[in-house]
Amino acid sequence: MRSFELSFTVAVFAAQGLIAQAPQPKMGAPLAGLTAPQMQRFVAGRVDFTHQTTVGEGLGPIFNQSACSSCHNNPVGGPGSITVTRFGYLDGKGTFDPLASLGGSLLQQLAIDVACQEIVPSAANVTATRVTTSTLGLGLIEAIADADIAANELTPPAPGISGRVHWVHELENPTGPLRAGRFGWKAQLATVLSFSGDAAQNEMGFTNRLLPTENAPNGNLALLAAWDGVADPEDGPDGNGLHFIDRITDFQRYLAAPPQTPRAGMTGEAIFNTVGCAACHVATFTTANAPALEPALRNKIIHPYSDFLVHDMGVAADFIEQGGASGQEVRTPPLWGLRNRDPLWHDGRVAGGTLETRMLGPAGIIFQHAAFGSEAAASAAAFGNLTTADQLRVVAFLDSLGRAEFDWNGDNVLDQVDLAAFRDAMGGGPFTADDPKAIFDIDQNGFVDSADLAAFATVYEVDCNGSGGTDLADVLAGLAADSNGNYIPDVCEHCQLDLGFAGGGSLLLTMCGDVMTTAGSKGTFELSAGPANAPVLVGIGIAANPHLVTATEFLVPLEPMVALVIGLATDANGGLRLPIFGGGVLPTTDWVFQAATFDGVAFDLSNAVLITVGGF
Ligand code: HEC
Ligand code: HEC
Repeated sequence: MRSFELSFTVAVFAAQGLIAQAPQPKMGAPLAGLTAPQMQRFVAGRVDFTHQTTVGEGLGPIFNQSACSSCHNNPVGGPGSITVTRFGYLDGKGTFDPLASLGGSLLQQLAIDVACQEIVPSAANVTATRVTTSTLGLGLIEAIADADIAANELTPPAPGISGRVHWVHELENPTGPLRAGRFGWKAQLATVLSFSGDAAQNEMGFTNRLLPTENAPNGNLALLAAWDGVADPEDGPDGNGLHFIDRITDFQRYLAAPPQTPRAGMTGEAIFNTVGCAACHVATFTTANAPALEPALRNKIIHPYSDFLVHDMGVAADFIEQGGASGQEVRTPPLWGLRNRDPLWHDGRVAGGTLETRMLGPAGIIFQHAAFGSEAAASAAAFGNLTTADQLRVVAFLDSLGRAEFDWNGDNVLDQVDLAAFRDAMGGGPFTADDPKAIFDIDQNGFVDSADLAAFATVYEVDCNGSGGTDLADVLAGLAADSNGNYIPDVCEHCQLDLGFAGGGSLLLTMCGDVMTTAGSKGTFELSAGPANAPVLVGIGIAANPHLVTATEFLVPLEPMVALVIGLATDANGGLRLPIFGGGVLPTTDWVFQAATFDGVAFDLSNAVLITVGGF
């Protein structure tokens, strides 16, 4: 219902030409433009991605966690703070042995029984932890043509930059052509399905059609035989013929890229380019225009800030060789979504604090890039030569990666705090992309205006009046009264005391908005649930004196009434709204209000409301 109304609102506003630009999906939301069946597959895939696999279903015997979302949890499908451990043996000549016969190079930290618990074998002399990366936007990354990734290897964007494609086979097509690896810290896999099969087997011990063989605890086949109770492969088709690994692939492929706000034009990005960050953190790709791709993924301009190549990071790397990636090579991580990511670097060595301290601190991200032997050292040095103000401009740009539009306080929830800041910004300007208020200027025309407000209404998350639509959409569409013009439905603000005594009918009287004893206060006298186009009487008294006038109905204002308002009528929906202005020169006074409608046969009395208005 809610999502229907939301998309309805978007459609109506878009049809009226009010929205210059649709807001970007939030972190963890699906791609824009999915068809209904694709949306269903996204939802079903999300269920499997969060499913805690049981031992009976095939978890283990050795594993790291029992659900994908146990690690990819911020938000579901995103990055996480859990790390996994890799180990191996590096001999004096620099040859790496992953110690596969002892269960390497990935350690499974948990087991379904202590008897088969893995440990880092004593033969290992290298261990490295790896942080959980994000799967947001993976369908878009997957849709980049191999040749477009290879182009940055063939024509390096700057001297001293020598990224390489990590060419790999798809697990689903092991004898097929080599593909440009792009996923994982070593760009070790090329497709989302490959990673799903790999993660299911290696992180959860859930064997599948791509990787049907269970990992033996530290290589011990006897222990495996004793504890692996479920026949392999453990994954298999569901009622629709789709396997678990297909379902989770759907979810990850249809996850939208993290938003970037403002979308373009920050000075910090220009500086990021000048000091050479963009030589590896490449801003823009266009996904392949391949007919086999869904329209939501095809021919899309994306801004991942990665070249998906592996680079020599010198002594700051992990010294774990994996496939064709050497111990010193690490894939450039996409920076989209960065502001929500903590810890950072492959092993999480940069953690805590603020984004600013994670970037600039004495052991921050820039410092890591400067490591001995790192291809990024020149860029880190150029960054170090910037003025502090310029460094902070780069940090401000990095902070835009993952920020939702309109999210003033950056908490990823679009609520009244953001709305209040929006109101402050409205009418001001012109704002450049560097102005914090630019996050409200979604069409980037320099001004926070009604077109931006209409766009905000489609993604605002508060529904204080329980209408099923967003409050902002309700107010803009006139579905909720907002006499004081703050875009918050009056019924969610100060409501005058309801004295009760509702009669036999459904007629409801409310008086909500500002506190009516303050200067310039406004509120709405609202009658609802009456008969359509019916005459309305409003009685006003100075005290309550409820007395029965029919078998069920009380007349509340003390008689004689100070006023009896006639000549009003309900609208076609059986409602009536009157703006009321508070404050003024009179002393603060309590009034008792009650309304009645007449449907041609009888009067129907509303509840009574004590309304306090007056001086200040
Ligand atoms: C124990 C924690 C953990 C669990 C459980 C887990 N992952 Fe991961 N995931 C990671 C880590 C750590 C990485 C980085 C691994 C690397 O590059 O070596 C990662 C990387 C990925 C990536 C690569 C993203 C990129 O571009 O870097 C994908 C895709 C992925 N995981 C999918 C899954 C799926 C699907 C599941 C469930 C079947 C899953 N993961 C379960 C920790 C986990
Ligand atoms: C030579 C290529 C290269 C250049 C130039 C480069 N980076 Fe990186 N960057 C990387 C690689 C590779 C990593 C991951 C290294 C690792 O984790 O071991 C990384 C990691 C990062 C991270 C952490 C991401 C995460 O998820 O942990 C940030 C932030 C970052 N770089 C920003 C910058 C900035 C800012 C600059 C310019 C001063 C820059 N990079 C220059 C290759 C580069």
